Amino acid sequence: MAKHRSAALVQEGITQLTGRSDSPRLDAEVLLLAACGINRTALARDPDQPIDAQSADAFFSFLKRRCRAEPIAYILGHKEFWSLDIELNDATLVPRPETEILVEMTLDAIPRDTAIELADLGTGSGAIALALAIERPLARITATDISRAALTKARENAKRLALDIHFVEGDWYAPLNGHQFDAIVSNPPYVRREDPALETGPAHFEPALALFAGDDGLDCIRTLCAGLKDHLRPGGLVVLEHGHNQQDAVHALLFATGLESIVQVTDHAGLARVTSARMPR
Ligand SMILES: C[S@@+](CC[C@H](N)C(=O)[O-])C[C@H]1O[C@@H](n2cnc3c(N)ncnc32)[C@H](O)[C@@H]1O
Repeated sequence: MAKHRSAALVQEGITQLTGRSDSPRLDAEVLLLAACGINRTALARDPDQPIDAQSADAFFSFLKRRCRAEPIAYILGHKEFWSLDIELNDATLVPRPETEILVEMTLDAIPRDTAIELADLGTGSGAIALALAIERPLARITATDISRAALTKARENAKRLALDIHFVEGDWYAPLNGHQFDAIVSNPPYVRREDPALETGPAHFEPALALFAGDDGLDCIRTLCAGLKDHLRPGGLVVLEHGHNQQDAVHALLFATGLESIVQVTDHAGLARVTSARMPR
């Protein structure tokens, strides 16, 4: 007879995660499903099913990591973004829901039937480039990152999803060799080096290279804005994600670079998180 049963394991998970997670039951169930390789319907059909020793061990190891506040996405190695299953590794940021606002703004500005050239700078797992590639199959998309490990995962994601993206490694514009694009999008690092909010919580597990951008969090955005004149075609679109308290600075940087039609969009909390602008014709 199996030593472990699913209901007891879920209950143990809830007990250990209460006070450590905002969603103890959901977390415990998701971790158990992943550990056993079963789906939610199978668990709902038989909520007290026998669990073999190997699956129970995997569950306890996942639970231990979750109790230390590691994001579920890193524990499971993947995260849904724009309805795509995006695989992650240690070098990739977990794609955020607010980044879907950047995808929406970009899609709103790009007609479905045009073969534009677009660059996603700092692609990480490839989340933005992959979402845009699936929605705009005619677009020729180049995606860059300075992290070779992140790019490896982005390439794997594109291959698994059968999406054609040109990946290049390097520091912001350097690997583009002066090429110009119709659209440049980026969710760059934008966290202040000393941000106290990051000493605990999920960000503690994320790669520093994906998060931090100098004393005011704007170093990468400054570099991106400075390169627009050389890499964005006349009439071209730029869309940047940024921190909720950086909208004025980002507006000022784009304006100083000579961009026009600056638009800022808020997230579900009403905070401006994404800014778009156009290079004058
Ligand atoms: C905030 S993460 C965004 C990742 C992904 N685009 C997303 O939205 O989930 C920023 C990304 O920029 C990359 N990055 C940091 N510094 C860079 C640089 N100098 N040049 C290119 N990419 C850089 C990081 O490796 C990381 O993947």
